[in-house]
Amino acid sequence: MEPLFENITNGDIILEFSYLLSAIFFVVGLKLLSHPETARRGNLWAAGGMLLAMVTTMVLHRDGGGSKIQTGNLAIILAAIALGGVVGAIIARRIKMTAMPQLVSFFNATGGAASALVALIEFSNPDNQSALVTLLGLVIGSIAFSGSMIAYGKLDGKVKDIFARWMTYVNLLILAGILFLLFYVLFGQMPPETKQILVYLLLAVSLVYGVSFVMPIGGADMPVVISLLNSLTGIAAAMAGFIYQNQAMILGGIFVGAAGMILTLLMCKAMNRSLINVIVGAFGGGAAGVDKEKGTVKEVSVNDAAVMLYYSSKVVIVPGYGLAVAQAQHVCNEMVKLLEANGVEVKFAIHPVAGRMPGHMNVLLAEADVSYDKLVEMDEINPQLPDTDVVLVIGANDVVNPAAEDDPSSPIYGMPIIRTHTAKNIIVMKRGMGKGYAAIENYLFFDDKTRMLFGNAKDSLQKLVTEIKNL
Ligand code: TAP
Repeated sequence: MEPLFENITNGDIILEFSYLLSAIFFVVGLKLLSHPETARRGNLWAAGGMLLAMVTTMVLHRDGGGSKIQTGNLAIILAAIALGGVVGAIIARRIKMTAMPQLVSFFNATGGAASALVALIEFSNPDNQSALVTLLGLVIGSIAFSGSMIAYGKLDGKVKDIFARWMTYVNLLILAGILFLLFYVLFGQMPPETKQILVYLLLAVSLVYGVSFVMPIGGADMPVVISLLNSLTGIAAAMAGFIYQNQAMILGGIFVGAAGMILTLLMCKAMNRSLINVIVGAFGGGAAGVDKEKGTVKEVSVNDAAVMLYYSSKVVIVPGYGLAVAQAQHVCNEMVKLLEANGVEVKFAIHPVAGRMPGHMNVLLAEADVSYDKLVEMDEINPQLPDTDVVLVIGANDVVNPAAEDDPSSPIYGMPIIRTHTAKNIIVMKRGMGKGYAAIENYLFFDDKTRMLFGNAKDSLQKLVTEIKNL
């Protein structure tokens, strides 16, 4: 068959068409990812799109000179895919559900690093026509890499917050330095060797910025920065796509960048923070709130808790990180079914940053087949809480901490919470008086209406199920 256009082979046309098809797969995947029931299929669609783009690129891509990928390069690519695939599969299989956020941060870091390396190598390529895009890819990719590694360390408890007001100014200064270097490399007159040195300097300063802007962000504010870093990785990948004029990379990167940015804005809204605060860092911080008069903690027995729940007409469950740690979602649903069989109306109140990753509670409860219509968002459930007989807090802490409303000195002040303290009765299930991620005291536990049911969430729920069955 004759090529349709001069210099354009049928292979090129098939390649472009495969990218279009991949883009459609990505869009369908994203759409399906928006609901827990279809999210697994969404992942497969998006992965299928990526596989298609990778295979057709390897088979059909020709470089500027018109030649296909050389066999030597193909061997390197296949070896890298095999190595990355095997390591990725082993890590993903072994990782515990509770360590998922760390894993996502780590993968995010590798994406940023890959884009930064592409930019670093391609900057000195004489065929490269897009210096600005290349430098932006270098800066954004490096920030995403070092920032995500710090986020990984923080989520894993290996890196502690370093918080000081002056860090905001340092961050602004570094940001200004990055912009200056970027424009100087682009428009300054200098020998190529000096330019290359400045590009390495830009890389180093960007890496430092990634560390310095994530380092002070502490307490409950981490979710915002995690989704921002995720978005940055997508943007960096899109920049790498521009360098290679590869539509699949551009589109994939833009999808991740846009989805991450939408999530960042939603998280900002959920945390009542502004985006600019996140970018220059040093908002939040892990400082302790003021010590107020605590009052006393009142415990409840499993038997009494079972009676309270069983004879209520409305129960709201607030799941948190502790539910995920205990892997108590299945037994929790078993208890819900028993309560419902007795005519109790049960709902789950979902806080946008409960757990350790966006949508953590939705995923956790979907795993236990909790029907999606029982999950109610924070803004919708809050007005219903004063009419709720019992709020059962399972392994949640920061997201129900009233200090966010009434203690201006608290690091979580201003963050919207699930207003459990307005319910008629509150039962809190946790192992002891341990603090939440923000490492601050929670006065809800000392409230007159609150009863503590101490123990591992899974064990306590199991005991509750047994007690309820005996009622
Ligand atoms: P946290 O405030 O982290 O509190 C979890 C509580 O669960 C702890 O106080 C702990 O108390 C209890 N717990 C731990 N293991 C348990 C077990 N096996 N059984 C029973 N209880 C257990 O959780 P949250 O309310 O879900 O808030 C999430 C926090 O993480 C927020 O500050 C949020 O900003 C932050 N964060 C969220 C994300 C995303 S994207 N969601 C990402 C990073 C950080 P005991 O030790 O006394 O049991």
